[in-house]
Amino acid sequence: MDGNGRWARRRGLPRVAGHREGTENLRRVLRAAVEFGIGILTIYAFSTENWGRPEEEVQGLLSILRHVIKEEVPKLHRQGVQLRHLGRLERIPAELERQIEEAIELTKDNSRLILNVAFNYGGRAEIVDAIRALIAEGASPEEVDGASVSSHLYTAGQPDPDLIIRTSGEMRLSNFLIWQAAYAEFYTTPTLWPDFDKDELYAALKDFNQRERRFGLVPGKSSE
Ligand code: FPP
Repeated sequence: MDGNGRWARRRGLPRVAGHREGTENLRRVLRAAVEFGIGILTIYAFSTENWGRPEEEVQGLLSILRHVIKEEVPKLHRQGVQLRHLGRLERIPAELERQIEEAIELTKDNSRLILNVAFNYGGRAEIVDAIRALIAEGASPEEVDGASVSSHLYTAGQPDPDLIIRTSGEMRLSNFLIWQAAYAEFYTTPTLWPDFDKDELYAALKDFNQRERRFGLVPGKSSE
């Protein structure tokens, strides 16, 4: 959800105002995703590196998350959205951690759309955590393979993403789902996240549908 800061700056507003507008947009995109039949949507809301941003911005983002959980989770629950958290709980204030756990528990049986919220998330940290978990379970070197690492990631049990969309013209993964993205299609648009609307999402899906996915095989012999 890149470009909130620039969106705010262009209007002479503080960066947090951009994150607030970005959150409004998330609500719109979520509605469109349900309408388009998307089963799993993962949003990159806060990376492990984002703690290094100015304190005011970090506090602003934590406060947005608190607000979203309080106001939006009951609505998301009614819409059949299942919430999952990708990331480490460490450094997240205890009260917020409890709210996150409650939201996950409340929505765990919903199946209309899974919303993975990557918060305090880093792709390398995720792989490190998976390997640590395998070691803690006493896995032998032979038992460490692609499947066992995948099943210890925060996304355990979920398929790899088909499409990764990055807004605001950046062309980097920035430590996002680096393991799971091995064969994901990448789509980027110059549109800033607060302006990424339903039509833009449709354009991204249309573009994705025209790609030929080969998964390392030769044309016409892909596994799909
Ligand atoms: C990147 O834009 C955006 C973020 C670091 C924060 C995104 C978070 C939200 C929209 C809040 C929603 C969160 C939840 C969990 C509902 P940027 O600030 O890097 O923009 P810039 O590149 O223009 O400076």
